[in-house]
Amino acid sequence: MKDQLMQILGEAKEAMTKAENLQGLEQLRIQYLGKKGELTSILKGMGKLSKEERPIIGKVANEVREAIEGGLEELKTALAERELTDRLAKESIDVTMPAKEHKIGNRHPMTKVLDEIKESFIGMGFKIAEGPEVDTVYNNFDALNAPLDHPSRSMSDTFYITDGTDDDLLLRTQTSTVQIRTMKKMTPPIKVISPGRCFRNDELDATHSPMFHQIEGLVIDKNITMADLKGTLDMIAKRLFGSQTQTKFRPHYFPFTEPSAEVDVTCFKCGGSGCRVCKGSGWIEILGCGMVHPNVLAECGIDPEEYSGFAFGMGLDRIAMLKMNIDDIRLFFENDMRFIDQF
Ligand code: DAH
Repeated sequence: MKDQLMQILGEAKEAMTKAENLQGLEQLRIQYLGKKGELTSILKGMGKLSKEERPIIGKVANEVREAIEGGLEELKTALAERELTDRLAKESIDVTMPAKEHKIGNRHPMTKVLDEIKESFIGMGFKIAEGPEVDTVYNNFDALNAPLDHPSRSMSDTFYITDGTDDDLLLRTQTSTVQIRTMKKMTPPIKVISPGRCFRNDELDATHSPMFHQIEGLVIDKNITMADLKGTLDMIAKRLFGSQTQTKFRPHYFPFTEPSAEVDVTCFKCGGSGCRVCKGSGWIEILGCGMVHPNVLAECGIDPEEYSGFAFGMGLDRIAMLKMNIDDIRLFFENDMRFIDQF
């Protein structure tokens, strides 16, 4: 029995030299000292020993157990230390490494110009009105007094959406649709602007895009005159392009306004003397406007005898291009970060 005990001790010591981690160590503890372990099963045979042998073997058994326990304990400390050192080495942080760059986003140049224009109008008491990009032929043309043979209605100008039976839906060609929606929904006084995307069947080139942006404006109240229109737009032009800016109203035609005008501003590059930006004329055209046609008011349930108003519409893309010195409209839609990050 003594030999058996010594053999177990030898085996245990041998096994301990091979233990690689704390998990393996625990397995050894169970194998040798556990309830069903090797040492325990030998000690169970102690009952068969004589009175003289029992204390001797008992002593040896205790020594063996203590030796195994002590060995395991020592090994445990050593292994734990090694595991910790290994982990620290693996997880160490090199504080001299260059940090990951956190790229902060940038608002799109178009959004920046739009926000600036919105702010100017909001400062003058305008509210924002919204309308859908897919709208009806009625809101885009009929209610806006567009004659049935108006060239803008043709398929070569307008994207119609059709289910094969009728084609009363389209991608709006102008934000003027929101005038109709607003007047039908609200009672005067009305003072709104409506920015948004518009679509026309245009070939894409440096100055044209089938998708572009407009801002529509609408003011309806009692006694609104052409003087209010001129005053408002002159003030906006000065806010957008600088206080020295002058405006010029040229007679024009739009179906939904009477009288109608186009507005030019003095070139903000050369101040009016003539340069490349204004193509030598000293003036830059920025919007269309006019007094809302009585037919349009009546169609929307507003009495033209009682109320009058003005409306205007401007192309945002062109204004943004002029303000930011961008010479190709396509750059706005390509989302090349090298371009967007410049503004
Ligand atoms: N909708 C016109 C266009 O797309 C712009 C415009 C002109 C809007 C005069 C208006 C306006 O509200 O009064 O060319």
